[in-house]
Amino acid sequence: MSRFPSSQSTSAMVEEPTKVVSAGGGDREGEDEQVVNPWEVTAKDGGKIDYDKLIEKFGCQRLDESFVRRVERLTGRPAHVFLRRGVFFAHRDFNEILDVYERGEKFFLYTGRGPSSEALHLGHLDAFKVPLVIQLTDDEKCMWKNLTVEESKRLACENVKDIIACGFDITRTFIFSDFSYVGGWASQVVGIFGFTNEDHIGKISFPPVQAVPSFPSSFPHLFSGKDNLRCLIPCAIDQDPYFRMTRDVAPRIGYQKPALIESSFFPALQGETGKMSASDPNSAIYVTDSSKDIKNKVNRYAFSGGQDSIENHRKYGANLEVDIPVKYLGFFLEDDAELDHIKKEYGAGRMLTGEIKKRLVEVLSELVERHRKARALVTDEVVDAFMAVRPLPLMFS
Ligand code: TRP
Repeated sequence: MSRFPSSQSTSAMVEEPTKVVSAGGGDREGEDEQVVNPWEVTAKDGGKIDYDKLIEKFGCQRLDESFVRRVERLTGRPAHVFLRRGVFFAHRDFNEILDVYERGEKFFLYTGRGPSSEALHLGHLDAFKVPLVIQLTDDEKCMWKNLTVEESKRLACENVKDIIACGFDITRTFIFSDFSYVGGWASQVVGIFGFTNEDHIGKISFPPVQAVPSFPSSFPHLFSGKDNLRCLIPCAIDQDPYFRMTRDVAPRIGYQKPALIESSFFPALQGETGKMSASDPNSAIYVTDSSKDIKNKVNRYAFSGGQDSIENHRKYGANLEVDIPVKYLGFFLEDDAELDHIKKEYGAGRMLTGEIKKRLVEVLSELVERHRKARALVTDEVVDAFMAVRPLPLMFS
């Protein structure tokens, strides 16, 4: 089975004209179409998201295996699992970033997190040894998720601890929250005008807030005098509208367009079909879950592609296309050989669902335990140190 979505050639690589801030959240073209934008992700009548269609519709390019090989050649080490296994499936100008890197020039990474809950999962990309800026859009969640300013700030701080616990290097990483770094305008506006949850004025001014960290001049303490430094943004494909807008505007204001690598969505435990519900704690594994929680959730809720009886399973094998334990192992099991073995044996009916789930519980428990230990070391002082407006001395070395 190929790890990459089938590679049909995308003929027209033209970027869709900017059309992102229309009322109600944009791209809705008839109710039975899939909807993917920063505020809503819905597949066509309960089916799977059609990622090939998104590439075509958004006008981005397919990130195929040749890119993975090139990254490995340039960095001299295996590519991150998310690249190797096709989680990042689309890009914009990634080839240009790799050209820049190959010439020995530098670029910077920009990514972010909307702190709408306490716990998260995040893949990182540190092989290039370049500076990384991470935006916490606490203002965004305040406006869209009906959170108070205080609660949004608190969640942002909790999320920063999880992000730091993933192992980012303080000499190359600057983390900022919109409320504190972008200037506190939102809390002032909220204070002065006494807006309530029904108000939308902030939503109109939000897209530029997510756009501007793509430009080096947003960080004078890091990139002063380096206005031509290129930026690479790893993000999920639903964020593409923000950056389509950014790329559209960039040349007109004399800046480089940011490049993107874009990922598919992380599937809910219940399966890729149907709705992912952020309000259902059983639809995801959190970094705060205990081993017992994980075992329980995986065994009870993880959608299985195994057959309904052992006889049928031995005869037909598992359907790996819909099997969630196998999908999750694809994200978290580092060992390519073991993953291939599992897919082969399970797909042929020689391994049973129970064995796959058991392995997944082990892998996830170990990961969550490692994260728990790393996070316990992240004190408020460490958070402040990552978020301090400061030069990053080892940024480019
Ligand atoms: N809007 C994103 C979210 O809701 C957070 C975000 C801000 C982001 N800047 C980004 C994501 C840049 C990817 C890249 O999670």
